[in-house]
Amino acid sequence: MSTTSDRLAAPPGAVSDNLPMRAFVTCGLASLAGLMFGLDIGVIAGALGFIGKAFNADTRTQEWIVSIMMAGAAAGAAGAGTLSYRLGRRWSLLIGGVLFVAGALICAFAGSIAMLMVGRVVLGLAIGIVAFTGPLYISEVAPAHWRGAMVSLYQLMVTIGILLAFVSDSLLTPSGNWRLMLGIIAVPGLVFLGAVLFLPESPRWFLLRGRDDQARTVLRTLRDDPAEVDREIAGVREQLKVRQLGAAMFRGNPNFRRSVYLGIGLQVVQQLTGINVIMYYAPKIFGLAGFGAGASNWATAVVGLVNVLATLLAVGFADRWGRKPMLNACFATMAIGMAAVGILLGLGVHGDFSRYLLVAMVLVFIVGFAAAPGPLIWTLCSEIQPLQGRDFGIAVSTFTNWAANWLVGNTFLSLLAGLGQANTFWLFAALNAGFILFVVFLVPETKGVSLESIEHKLMEGLPLRRIGR
Ligand code: BGC
Repeated sequence: MSTTSDRLAAPPGAVSDNLPMRAFVTCGLASLAGLMFGLDIGVIAGALGFIGKAFNADTRTQEWIVSIMMAGAAAGAAGAGTLSYRLGRRWSLLIGGVLFVAGALICAFAGSIAMLMVGRVVLGLAIGIVAFTGPLYISEVAPAHWRGAMVSLYQLMVTIGILLAFVSDSLLTPSGNWRLMLGIIAVPGLVFLGAVLFLPESPRWFLLRGRDDQARTVLRTLRDDPAEVDREIAGVREQLKVRQLGAAMFRGNPNFRRSVYLGIGLQVVQQLTGINVIMYYAPKIFGLAGFGAGASNWATAVVGLVNVLATLLAVGFADRWGRKPMLNACFATMAIGMAAVGILLGLGVHGDFSRYLLVAMVLVFIVGFAAAPGPLIWTLCSEIQPLQGRDFGIAVSTFTNWAANWLVGNTFLSLLAGLGQANTFWLFAALNAGFILFVVFLVPETKGVSLESIEHKLMEGLPLRRIGR
């Protein structure tokens, strides 16, 4: 999901309500980065059972096959800032695309578990880079008025990618061909690579590197009005005067440390909701309820579809209802969904009615996630950081997202075995309920508040929950 809020990079004075065709096509092509992200997350779910059988992999090994990708993504995200600064956004996306195709092919032809893990790490590196650079690029090339919509398009593409991977896994389930499941995503990877070849470099990056003429040339192709080009260049130049203090500011400024810790907390919370337990292991969970491999993978595809639809519905609500009420309502919904799954597994799922009820309860959880914590945690993470520490703060929270994602993916099957099925879901239910306290006591309401005001209150030392409204 996005790491850059639409309001962050909005240069003052860039005003035009039209979305020029070329800017739209450029953002549309770049949003394929989101599709890559989603494919990567979704593809393992349907393949895991077959991989487990093919390599005789125990629970612990399966957890590693799933989660080693997130370790790669954490490393990719950690390096993505430097890469996209030094080589440019376009080259970073190209490198990400090449790694993506390579990773998919290594997985497809892996002759051993070790090789499969190498492929998953390469895929992870790819996605760490692409998921950082994609939204950054989009926010830099989209006209100011359209920035929010274009970044949302990217987020929607993530969920569509997950859905496509789930559907493709389902279609391939009767053949049991896990190699094809993992390899086929190389095809959209190649399409992405082709698309990136047509993308111009980001004008903002050109300005960052002092290449003003090239910035102007590109921007002229992306904007209808030449006066807008001049205004935008002037605005970006102003912004670039703000020096990023990063780690030094973290060491020296206790107030900044608080916003960095809040970013870390928000991302840990997002992952401990258990969302990726569903994304990676849904077919296994449906298997526990007695569904066969085919039905489990199709039920998982429904999960993917509901994830897309709920994300679509959610776009816009957060700016009307506010972050905190949305988060609280959704954490409560998710706690109910997880608790109900726990109860059903505890009672034992007998018969079709309870089986379908279990799927319905997983869907309740997904709707809750997609409607708020999914998109909003990313938005909040970019809103709470002060200007001079923004790059550092967002990089740290993005890294945390992957690290926490790794932790959940790496322990879920062991939790099922150690704690028991029902208790595992009860644990996630309790965590989701507990996150309401986190929101009440620590999360600020940032709806409609300027970033300057948030920064001012943070630096004045106000409690975190009061740095918004
Ligand atoms: C999370 C991912 C998750 C995705 C599901 C994102 O907001 O960061 O970990 O897989 O939502 O749609």
